[in-house]
Amino acid sequence: MRYLTAGESHGKAVVTIVEGLPSQLPLAVNRLEQELARRRLGYGRGGRMSIEADRVEILSGVRQGRTLGSPLCMAVENLDRHNWLEVMPVEDTGTLVAPLTVPRPGHADLAGSVKYGTKDIRDILERASARETLGRVLAGAAARVLLEEMGIEILSHVTGIGELDVSGESVPAPGSGPGIDESPLRCLNSSMERETMALIDAAKEAGDSLGGRFQVVAFGVPPGLGSHVHWDRRADGLLAQAVMSIPAIKSVSLGKAEEVSRERGSQAQDPIAYGSQGWMRPTNNAGGVEGGITNGQPLVMNGAMKPIPTIPAGLPSVDLVTKEEKRPAAERADTCAVPAAAVVAESAVAWVLAVLLMEKLGGDTLPEMKSRYQDYLAYWKDF
Ligand SMILES: Cc1cc2nc3c(=O)[nH]c(=O)nc-3n(C[C@H](O)[C@H](O)[C@H](O)COP(=O)(O)O)c2cc1C
Repeated sequence: MRYLTAGESHGKAVVTIVEGLPSQLPLAVNRLEQELARRRLGYGRGGRMSIEADRVEILSGVRQGRTLGSPLCMAVENLDRHNWLEVMPVEDTGTLVAPLTVPRPGHADLAGSVKYGTKDIRDILERASARETLGRVLAGAAARVLLEEMGIEILSHVTGIGELDVSGESVPAPGSGPGIDESPLRCLNSSMERETMALIDAAKEAGDSLGGRFQVVAFGVPPGLGSHVHWDRRADGLLAQAVMSIPAIKSVSLGKAEEVSRERGSQAQDPIAYGSQGWMRPTNNAGGVEGGITNGQPLVMNGAMKPIPTIPAGLPSVDLVTKEEKRPAAERADTCAVPAAAVVAESAVAWVLAVLLMEKLGGDTLPEMKSRYQDYLAYWKDF
């Protein structure tokens, strides 16, 4: 399976093409829109979220609510497009409207302008914008539907905002996703909510922004996805790439990476046991992957997001044309987007797991995959 996205932040639409899904997978527009709505969640978002109603149109690949096995093409129109026609024309109008020449620190602005040879930073920022993650969420939503058919469930929760840790000792259980989405911060532990929201308010008032930390957990992941045999087939590496490539995510880790790095080898590994339920692991420090292969434990991935780089007052910079010191023009921005980034990370994890599952099971139709999956689970239990 593979997917591509296209679209500028203030262009006509964001389009996602997914290839390789099996046929006969139930796929409804409202299921896709549900996932996009989850990407708009979280206290501390900017004005764009109220504009982004995000209606999905399926252009190909689905008939009568089921995939055909042909490329799935999904489009989300930019409802604010009419306000951007002069700034983002496709045809050459001979005049650039409101070119941006002061690069924002922490964005692709300067490096991208040098690389693609432009002195209008809009040529870069339109695609570098996190609106592109909308396309990733759509691909992830299709992957998630496939995983759900196999009994695999993915959720995420925020574990920290700025200097505050919000999860305490709480760990998510299967089925806790909807409850997490009801929390304004998408966190498991409500005792820190008020304090954390006040922290976000204070940052906003001070004209500043915040980053934070989150965890993605996948339940029901079978053993045997990914492989130890090559660096580019290891599940841990593939998952890390998918989550790390989300804008503003600066580190990823599996399981209790931070804690075990401080422990002895005798404490850090997960013992192996066998009982009436088959193979068991009393602990899951590894986060569900050993030797680049899923081991049948819940997959646990952690991510850290840097503070949003657009600051209302702008940060010190230099004009690309005049070389004068200047502050960049303020763009509409989130104060904190960690709850939403966690939803995007869920999509990234869902995509990688679906790709590895397809690789493991093969098959052109969902029923074919399901029957092979049942055989595989029985094989594992008796192994
Ligand atoms: C869900 C989400 C929302 C974001 N919202 C904003 C925003 O409103 N303003 C902003 O400057 N950056 C925002 N970012 C982060 C930037 O897109 C990102 O920092 C920038 O593209 C540079 O990439 P890098 O931080 O990975 O180097 C957001 C990121 C995510 C994942």
